[in-house]
Amino acid sequence: MSNEKTILKLQLPTDPLWVKNVVESNIEEILTDHAFCEQKAASNAITLIVQNPNLSDLVQEMALLVQEEMDHFKRVHDIILERGYTLGRERKDNYVNELMQFLVKGGSRQQQLVDRLLFSAMIEARSCERFKVMSEHINDKQLADFYYELMVSEAGHYTTFITLARKYAGKIDVEKRWKDFLAYEAQVVQNYGKKETIHG
Ligand SMILES: [Fe+2]
Ligand SMILES: [Fe+2]
Repeated sequence: MSNEKTILKLQLPTDPLWVKNVVESNIEEILTDHAFCEQKAASNAITLIVQNPNLSDLVQEMALLVQEEMDHFKRVHDIILERGYTLGRERKDNYVNELMQFLVKGGSRQQQLVDRLLFSAMIEARSCERFKVMSEHINDKQLADFYYELMVSEAGHYTTFITLARKYAGKIDVEKRWKDFLAYEAQVVQNYGKKETIHG
């Protein structure tokens, strides 16, 4: 996969033991949290459209992304129902909340947009990495195949966000900001990999 090399720039890989020790014994929890990750990804794309209606390329890309994320949501929900579960309430995502702390406070509209795009790229990259680890280690053929497929899709979303960040960067040094973001994410994620949520 062409994007894999870039994604592996994430500085800290997830320990596969997270799948063995946590995920496999909490499938219902994981599926509920995962469904809401997809819904939140769609909501985030809608917010970007609402805040930037004049950026036609962004609007077009986000319109496509919303459809894909809601398709993912529906497919997770189908699996939840197939397995006799009911979608639970939205779970807290402390990882995402911590990443949000890195976003510029104040700053120009452009800085805020670029940061929001990089923040979105980061969540796609880490979700992609988590799906990869799950697809490789989960002892459940249906979910292994499903997470492999989603890994490829989220890698595409990561590329979309990075490309948009570069496109709208103007004089902002996107590469530097992304490097700093990666370093921050590595600090944050050190404390995760223990809970039964996608970013837990
Ligand atoms: Fe997704
Ligand atoms: Fe995505």
